[in-house]
Amino acid sequence: MQDENFNLLKKSIERILGIQCGSYKEEYIKRRVLSRMRIRGKEEYKDYNSLLVQDKDEQESLRNALTINVTKFWRDKEVFEIIKAEIIPEILKKRGKARIWSAGCSTGEEPYTLALIAYDLIRLKPDSQVVIYATDIDREVLKKAKEGIYDKKSLENLSESQVKRHFIQLEDGKYQVKQHLKDMVRFSWHDLMSGKPATNYLDMVTCRNVTIYFTEQQKNDLARMFYPALVSEGFYIMGKTEFMARELEDKYKPYNALQKIYRKSS
Ligand SMILES: C[S@@+](CC[C@H](N)C(=O)[O-])C[C@H]1O[C@@H](n2cnc3c(N)ncnc32)[C@H](O)[C@@H]1O
Repeated sequence: MQDENFNLLKKSIERILGIQCGSYKEEYIKRRVLSRMRIRGKEEYKDYNSLLVQDKDEQESLRNALTINVTKFWRDKEVFEIIKAEIIPEILKKRGKARIWSAGCSTGEEPYTLALIAYDLIRLKPDSQVVIYATDIDREVLKKAKEGIYDKKSLENLSESQVKRHFIQLEDGKYQVKQHLKDMVRFSWHDLMSGKPATNYLDMVTCRNVTIYFTEQQKNDLARMFYPALVSEGFYIMGKTEFMARELEDKYKPYNALQKIYRKSS
């Protein structure tokens, strides 16, 4: 009966939220749903299902709970194309090295995408160096990020030759990031609401798709916290659906407003 009710709930999730439950492990969906059920005081899947069907706020909360760690390699391709063609080359030309922070890195796809881009660029400039600091508040995702093991589907945005150069195919058909990329990324735990940056003298911060739960005030505090951590003219890259508040316009100027790429104002 429990199973039957859970299956009905999954059907509602697919129909109402448009999230395909088959893309996730069953355990993952159960964990997120149970946490929402606890918050809303529901003990049975059946009762939570009825709530979900009628309550628009709960639909939004469950959507956020299910997609909280969702990430992929080259998420929003255009942004990473600009990082590759313009931003990292400019930083390396000016300073010979680049310090980058992937803030809210989830399971590692974002920092490894940056590492992969940087690796190809520094091969052309052997004296240059790129370090990527990658942080998250969720220790589970950090563990996964450090292992760097992904299934074939996660690599769908990478070309055949990128997969060959930067991943080892494991016996179970999964792929593991090679050591040369791992060496470029330093993972650590950090809370973006702590008010302190994970590191300083940064040439670029990417903080993308992290602030769903943050209030406007917390989002603005975050941008203020990044400001002193960036070098002069350093880059701040937000998620495509995120916005820079008016009151921060003196701190950051748009570099590519459409792609939400900003630059520290001097
Ligand atoms: C949707 S993922 C985004 C991953 C990647 N930046 C991207 O755009 O694909 C959001 C991540 O932000 C992390 N996060 C949420 N609140 C945080 C906080 N206060 N401090 C650090 N990380 C946080 C979550 O744990 C999650 O892994």
